Amino acid sequence: MENPQGPPSLGVNIDHVATVRNARGEGFPSPLQAAFTALEAGASNVTCHLREDRRHIRDDDVRIISSLTGRLNLEMAAEEGIIKIALEIKPLSVTIVPEKRKELTTEGGLNVIQDVKKYSEINSGFRAANIATSAFIEPDLGQVEAAKKGGFDFIEIHTGNYAREFALVKTGILKELEKIKAAAAYAGNIGLGVNAGHGLDYKNIYNIAAINGMREFNIGFSIISHSIFAGLETAVREMASILRNVRR
Ligand code: PXP
Repeated sequence: MENPQGPPSLGVNIDHVATVRNARGEGFPSPLQAAFTALEAGASNVTCHLREDRRHIRDDDVRIISSLTGRLNLEMAAEEGIIKIALEIKPLSVTIVPEKRKELTTEGGLNVIQDVKKYSEINSGFRAANIATSAFIEPDLGQVEAAKKGGFDFIEIHTGNYAREFALVKTGILKELEKIKAAAAYAGNIGLGVNAGHGLDYKNIYNIAAINGMREFNIGFSIISHSIFAGLETAVREMASILRNVRR
C-alpha cells in the first residue's frame, strides 16, 4: 500500500535512449535495457512517450517494456490509434498529454476543463482495463477539479515553468512553486494522487520533493544527460583497456 507521507517515488523517462538508438538506426542502446537498469537502480516505473510521429519510442518498445517489466507508464495523446495500442498492451498507467507535431518536448498541460466529457469516456475504458490514468496539467485549481470530474486517478503537475523560474530567480519567492503547492494540496484533498514532472533536474528537485503528499516524479532529460558523464569514463576505460591488452 502506498504511503502518501512516505518519500516520493521516481519514474524515469527513457525516450531519449531511443533518440540515440534511432540516430544510427541500430538496435542499441536498447530502451528495454534502459528500463531494467532504471528499475534495478531504484526507479519505481519507467515512462515512454509513444508520439504520433514515433520520433523516438516505437510501438515494439512499449509492447516489450510493458510485458517484460509490468512497470510502464505510457505517456500519450488522447488519440484513437494510441488509445487502442494502450488498451492492447495494458501498461501500469497512462499519462495523457497534449501533443503537437512540431514541438521539441511537451509544451504545457492538458486543457481538461474544455473536454471533461471526452476524458470521462476515455477514462472509463482504461478503468475497465485496469489501467490507472493521469492528466498532465498546469498547477491550476480549475484544471485539478476538472481532472477529478473527468475520472482521472492522478494528476501530473507540469513543472516546466517552475524549472524555468528556478533557473532565473536566484532569491525570493518562486511564484510557480507556490502554485504547485496549492494545486498539490487541493488535489490531495479531493482524492487525486499527485505526481509532477518536466524540466526537473539535480538542483531544482529539492523544493518540489519537499512538498507534502507528492507521490511520484517523472524525470527524463536530466537523468539521461547526466548518465553520459556518469558513464563515459567507464566506457572509455573499457575500450582503452581492450586496446592495451590485445596481442599483436
Ligand atoms: N512528464 C511529462 C508529461 C512529459 O511530457 C515529460 C517529457 O517527455 C516528462 C515528464 C519528463 O520531462 P524531462 O525530460 O524534462 O525530465
